[in-house]
Amino acid sequence: MSIIIPTYNEVKNIPILIHKIESMNLDHQIVVVDDNSPDGTASVVERLSDQYRNIILVKRSGKNGIATAIRDGLLNSQSKYVVVMDSDLQHPPEVIPKLYRQLKNGNDIAVASRYIRGGKTEFGILRSVVSKVATFLAHVNLNETEGIMDPMSGFFGFRRDIISPSDIKSNGYKILLEIIVAANKPKVVEVPFRFNRRASGKSKLGVGEFIKYIKLLLNLSDYLMVKFILVGIFGAIINLLMMMLLVGKLGEPIYAAAIIALEAGIVGSFCMNNYWTYKRRKTKGTIIKKYVRYNLMSILGSAIYFALIALLATFGMNYMLATGIGVVASFSTNFAGGGQGVIWHL
Ligand code: GDD
Ligand code: MN
Repeated sequence: MSIIIPTYNEVKNIPILIHKIESMNLDHQIVVVDDNSPDGTASVVERLSDQYRNIILVKRSGKNGIATAIRDGLLNSQSKYVVVMDSDLQHPPEVIPKLYRQLKNGNDIAVASRYIRGGKTEFGILRSVVSKVATFLAHVNLNETEGIMDPMSGFFGFRRDIISPSDIKSNGYKILLEIIVAANKPKVVEVPFRFNRRASGKSKLGVGEFIKYIKLLLNLSDYLMVKFILVGIFGAIINLLMMMLLVGKLGEPIYAAAIIALEAGIVGSFCMNNYWTYKRRKTKGTIIKKYVRYNLMSILGSAIYFALIALLATFGMNYMLATGIGVVASFSTNFAGGGQGVIWHL
């Protein structure tokens, strides 16, 4: 097993981590990929590699990001199994043998998980919320992450042959996502762990990483989120046009028209989502079943839509304005609450 550890300014942490791993009697080599850390991390590792013969130090010329560091770690090692972890002691090495065992038992990827039973994070509130939002977005956008509670973990192991190093194209923190998507339907298992506080030094994670992350999600998901929103707008336009026709031109009563217009919008958005947004996904079930499910998933949004129009029209608001407000409210509801369900099951 190769344990790949990217480092940037971890001079205090890396010796502690290496001594710990070396004391565990694993069948392993350690591959440290250092980006010319100004604090001299590399020379400390060099000294340690005199003491322990199973350390490989890959030196890069400047701070080039974790993902490519891991890629270069892969290119500089050969073993059948690979474990990736941080060097700041937030990832407890005691978990490595558990990951290793899961891989030897035939799993393609073993994720050290903060979000399954027995896992834990020592995060502050802000970081905690950001992490949860990021995980939610991964689940919404990438159905490959279905059932994986912590697809954003930076601590995981995998069998080398499930990907080729060139599959790692982004340069953000979320390399596990890329591996899950690049490997074809991998068998993934999660092992709980406690994500510790950083021992010393500071996190290199910033706002820039979040933006990179959104770009990665858009790329990996084939712009699913953007398409989903465009389709929502398309459905809203159909809805409003139908109202104009039914109430404005044909003089139908508002309530009946609101229901017909809503369903017309749903049919339109269903078709577009089915044949465009989720084209690359093949879910089981007939088109009718999917359509019924789609309606059920948006039922709360539909109820809010109808209640709002009824209420606003009763108070004498222009029916088009009332419909507009109803449409926006229902779309927001579906997007925030049901969106995930709709996306999973379409
Ligand atoms: N070689 C190299 N180059 N190493 C780097 C670079 C870089 O540009 N940037 C960071 N590292 C190293 C750090 O030295 C550390 O060992 C590890 O990568 C993680 O960096 P941190 O800055 O400590 O990340 P974090 O604790 O904020 O984020 C961790 O948790 C996230 C989950 O919340 C990472 O494990 C993320 O990958 C993970 O998604
Ligand atoms: Mn860290």
